[in-house]
Amino acid sequence: MNLSFIGLGVMGYPMAGFLASAGYQVTVFNRTESKAKKWSQEFNGSYALTPLEASKNADIIFTCVGNDDDVRQVILGPDGVIHGLKNDAIVVDHTTASSVLAEELDNHISDAGGSFIDAPLSGGQAGAESGQLTIMVGGEEAIFTKVSPVMNNYAKACTLIGGVGSGQKAKMVNQICIAGLVQGLAEGLHFAKREKLNIEAVINAISKGAAQSWQMENRWQTMIEDEFEFGFAVEWMRKDLEIALDEANRIAANIKVTALVNEYYKEIESIGGKRFDTSSLIKRLEP
Ligand SMILES: NC(=O)c1ccc[n+]([C@@H]2O[C@H](COP(=O)([O-])OP(=O)(O)OC[C@H]3O[C@@H](n4cnc5c(N)ncnc54)[C@H](OP(=O)(O)O)[C@@H]3O)[C@@H](O)[C@H]2O)c1
Repeated sequence: MNLSFIGLGVMGYPMAGFLASAGYQVTVFNRTESKAKKWSQEFNGSYALTPLEASKNADIIFTCVGNDDDVRQVILGPDGVIHGLKNDAIVVDHTTASSVLAEELDNHISDAGGSFIDAPLSGGQAGAESGQLTIMVGGEEAIFTKVSPVMNNYAKACTLIGGVGSGQKAKMVNQICIAGLVQGLAEGLHFAKREKLNIEAVINAISKGAAQSWQMENRWQTMIEDEFEFGFAVEWMRKDLEIALDEANRIAANIKVTALVNEYYKEIESIGGKRFDTSSLIKRLEP
């Protein structure tokens, strides 16, 4: 099987590497050519100078870029994937993007003789580097069945949620759940500090009970130590929350706490925290 991978960022670079290491013929494209060159040397694959060139012989084309407009550019743009699409090729978009975009791409790609699935990721840089991502998929079951064994090279769980767009909607649920939770954790830690409690003892006790969460276990210490130069960047979270808020507006869903936390993240950006980890919400409470 010939594969193509477009977008060798923090996530895409190791993911494409897992595919090459599994023995697939992989051709990559990256806007900044030097990264594609480095990748091709490291993984013994090939690279092309446009998305079109990278994908014209591919059975499956993976994209993992920044936002909706970036995906449009690499798929529908003048040098985009769609202009060289093989009949029956499958396009898998790993970018966190809108469900409206997923439906738009599905229409264009079907008209060009291919199939589309949206497959946003969870698990962060560490998950991509260890091949342990969680993938939420929207699309037809027959297409999912063809693609999931390939994605399993970098995923620990790959779940078909429903039709096209539902992978993105599941990712929105994920981000909505995280937003309120991180703010709650920030307030709990702030409160414990003001009470001058032994925070380690508090976390040891409550992380075994109903308040337990991944964020609590993995972030409490760096939050109280004021360390945020790592992890999932606030600017990416803002993009994801804006997508969820637009969708909520479209379907008249009430996600007021998410809207509030999005405003709090704007404050973190305004104090220079665009690249801080999302746990930096506590900074607002402890300037
Ligand atoms: N990082 C995480 O922890 C994480 C977790 C879950 C989901 N995600 C999502 O996964 C996606 C990728 O994230 P990332 O962390 O890998 O981002 P990243 O490190 O910033 O990489 C973005 C990649 O997209 C390329 N790109 C951006 N705009 C482009 C355009 N208009 N045309 C062509 N290429 C373009 C960049 O090329 P250049 O090299 O030329 O800049 C780069 O290869 C995002 O949607 C993000 O929200 C990220």
